Amino acid sequence: MKIYFKNNKPFIEGVCLDDIINSYSTPFYIYSQKGITETYNKLIENLNSEIFFSVKANSNQAILKLLKSCGAGADVVSAGELERALAAGFNSEKIIFEGVGKSKNDIQYAINNNIRLINIESINELILVNSIGYSLSKKINIGIRLNPDIDGKTLDKISTGKKTDKFGINIIQLNEIITLIKSCENINLKGISCHIGSQIHDLSTFKDVFQKMKKIANSLSGEGLNIEYVDLGGGFGVNYEKDSDDLDLKELGVLVHSTYNDTPYKISFEPGRFLVARSGILMTKILTTKENGGINFLITDAGMHTLIRPSMYGAIHRVQAINNLNTKTIIYTIAGPICESSDILVKNINLPKQEINNYLAILDVGAYGAVMAS
Ligand code: LLP
Repeated sequence: MKIYFKNNKPFIEGVCLDDIINSYSTPFYIYSQKGITETYNKLIENLNSEIFFSVKANSNQAILKLLKSCGAGADVVSAGELERALAAGFNSEKIIFEGVGKSKNDIQYAINNNIRLINIESINELILVNSIGYSLSKKINIGIRLNPDIDGKTLDKISTGKKTDKFGINIIQLNEIITLIKSCENINLKGISCHIGSQIHDLSTFKDVFQKMKKIANSLSGEGLNIEYVDLGGGFGVNYEKDSDDLDLKELGVLVHSTYNDTPYKISFEPGRFLVARSGILMTKILTTKENGGINFLITDAGMHTLIRPSMYGAIHRVQAINNLNTKTIIYTIAGPICESSDILVKNINLPKQEINNYLAILDVGAYGAVMAS
């Protein structure tokens, strides 16, 4: 989603930004229905697989309803996210539940709502799900979330697929867990899944994941287990520093089809960021300006409480000025109003000279923005 100017007025997709600014108080997020719909369609076109939107990236009801209407399923990691997905109208058969630490209440809620799969992440969780199934005289459909020990070559804070990460069940425990599953009367194993991290840009990493998961699925099927679903996670990289160079979906699609051209199970993905990141803008107002120790600060009403990604991960988001566009540029540090020194949105950014009460747009914040705000 981009801001462009017509007669010196800022616009987004034909809507004058001034009209939005005059109707809502900052800070606020703006989303693009068009952007999300087009990205979803691109994913389907290239991957030709089932897409479960990772609700943790943005659980806004309008966005969930939109993705549901496009045909997506939902990937949730808590009873709260499940409740939001159900409220948005997702059919329970199109919901999967992952999550490294599910409480008994979470699991019961998921079972009561007959979702497609609970992807278990530990042996204790398997035993718990089986015992809940026993108490309800029900067979529970599960998947196993595997930790394939593949390095996503991403930031440590968003890596999930190395054997030292807390997520998934280590593949060396697979035989043990399969033996246990066979002895569990209230468990029906239907799938395997993995997710090795976020912001993956390297296709060869996906190639390793696809091949490893295929080998495992085939060997489980060979043992007579009825594997219906193979879920290959999310993690599709977005390039926050420019408008382009996100993960190449065409090439990813070629890889999917060449790996899984003749397999008896359904392939799915669970992207979050890729679907929504580019379709969100955060509008903020400059509360004050100051120069401290040679640094030109713009203090804004958005901060780490509105968008935590910069202070938590050192994430970079581009910022677009919408006022004073024809003035000489200055190097600024943009900081929020919170009493934490880490409350910095961006350092050393070149912008036209700004003043109090000007507005700034922070770009590509549709994923892990509002949902992680406090
Ligand atoms: N599936 C599972 C099991 C996950 O844990 C995640 C993200 C996804 C799917 C979606 O991954 P994506 O396609 O969005 O990369 N807050 C961090 C990102 C944390 C991602 C956690 N897991 C950030 O702002 O960068």
